Amino acid sequence: MEALFAALEGTALAQALRTSRWLYAGVNAAHIFAIALLVGSVVPLNLRLLGVWRGVSREAVVRVLAPVAASGLALALITGPLLFAVRARDYGGIGVLQLKLALIAVGVLSALALCRSHGFLLRDAPRARLAGHAILSTVCWLGALVCGRLIAFAGD
Ligand code: HEM
Repeated sequence: MEALFAALEGTALAQALRTSRWLYAGVNAAHIFAIALLVGSVVPLNLRLLGVWRGVSREAVVRVLAPVAASGLALALITGPLLFAVRARDYGGIGVLQLKLALIAVGVLSALALCRSHGFLLRDAPRARLAGHAILSTVCWLGALVCGRLIAFAGD
């Protein structure tokens, strides 16, 4: 693993990110924008799945917020590994980063399982199933947000 992380740090892109302050700042800003899109859409979406705003059709909320969340996740999954490559050997040993990646994996798998069982618009999903997913998903994404911020305070 150490050799893989060292190779990652040696790539031209990682070197460019280490030497160009503006490039690093741009990728970091894009990571934060991605998180804003993801968490900013997942929280109201999950609240709707839990039964808040019953006057607004669940399907309409899912139609608007699920693609926004997916776009934020896609951008986070591009920019996160770029940030990681800058100091891969240091980051690789940080527990909160490992926990963050595990939370992201569980959050993604939970959403995929729900869509697989009930379709993208979740038309026939029972309330208890939606509520269970919403609670797990909120824990995962808010947990990933907190762990992401804590990376800066971990290590030496
Ligand atoms: C494969 C996916 C991801 C990887 C590899 C990754 C990796 C990283 C890395 C290396 C940093 C820089 C840490 C530092 O030195 O301070 C970071 C920052 C951060 N990440 Fe991620 N990340 C990913 C996805 C996400 C997601 C999905 C979220 C939120 C739900 C998230 C939340 C954060 C936060 C809040 C920060 C701190 C930003 C700042 O204070 O500048 N990350 N991430």
